[in-house]
Amino acid sequence: MGTENFVRLAVLKHDSITSPDNDLDLFPARSAEWSDKFYAEAFHDPLVTAHLSISDDFDPKRYMTEINGPLGNSFGGSPTKALYHIYKRGYFEGPIGHVSVKEIDWKNLTFHRGMVLKKQFLGQGIGPKVGFVILDHMKKLGFKRAFTEVKGANLRSLNAVRKQFGEGVLTNDGQYHFELDLTKPLEWNPFLQ
Ligand SMILES: CC(C)(COP(=O)(O)OP(=O)(O)OC[C@H]1O[C@@H](n2cnc3c(N)ncnc32)[C@H](O)[C@@H]1OP(=O)(O)O)[C@@H](O)C(=O)NCCC(=O)NCCS
Repeated sequence: MGTENFVRLAVLKHDSITSPDNDLDLFPARSAEWSDKFYAEAFHDPLVTAHLSISDDFDPKRYMTEINGPLGNSFGGSPTKALYHIYKRGYFEGPIGHVSVKEIDWKNLTFHRGMVLKKQFLGQGIGPKVGFVILDHMKKLGFKRAFTEVKGANLRSLNAVRKQFGEGVLTNDGQYHFELDLTKPLEWNPFLQ
C-alpha cells in the first residue's frame, strides 16, 4: 500500500466526523459495553433486521476484532474495512447506529457502504444525512466511486439510498445495485434542503 493510501486508511480508522448541523458524530467503532448494547438491541430487532443477512452467531467482539485487530487499535485489523458508530447529540444511550465502509479497493479507490440504525431512529431522515456525511468524507479523501446494494423488498432503504445515489439497477439476485461517481459534485445535500 502506497503512502497516500496508508494515510487514507489511518484517517478512516482513527478520525471522527461531525455532521454539518453538529447533530451527529461518527466515531471509529471500538469494542465497548456501549457498542455491544447497540448490537444486542439492533441486530435482534426484527424491524431493523428484516432485510439484512445477519448470522445467528454474530458476535460484536469478534466483528470489532476483525475490523480493528486483536489490540483494538486498528493495527492488524482489516485493511479493506472501516466502521463508524453513529452518536446523536443529546442521546446518551450509546450509538444509534453504525455505518460501514467495506470492500475498499485501494487500486481503484472504490468502496461499498452499509448502514443500520436502531428502531427508534428509523424514518427520521438520519440515514440519508449519515450517508451524505460519509460520501462527502470519502470524496474529500480522494475516493472515486461508491457502491451499495439494497434488497428489492427493503423499501425504506431504497427510498433513502435513491436520494443519495440516484436510480439503481435491479440485478438478477433481486437486489438493487447503486453506484455513485465521487469525482463529480454530490448532487443532493440534505443539510441544504
Ligand atoms: C436504511 C436506513 C439506514 C435508512 O435510514 P432512515 O433514516 O430510516 O431513512 P429515511 O428517514 O430517509 O426514511 C427512508 C424512507 O423510507 C420511508 N419509510 C418510512 N417508513 C417506511 C416503511 N415502513 N416502509 C417503507 N418505507 C418507509 C420514509 O418515508 C423515507 O422516504 P421519504 O423521505 O421519501 O418519505 C434505516 O432505515 C435502517 O437502518 N434500516 C434498517 C437496516 C437496513 O435495512 N439497512 C440497510 C441495508 S441495505
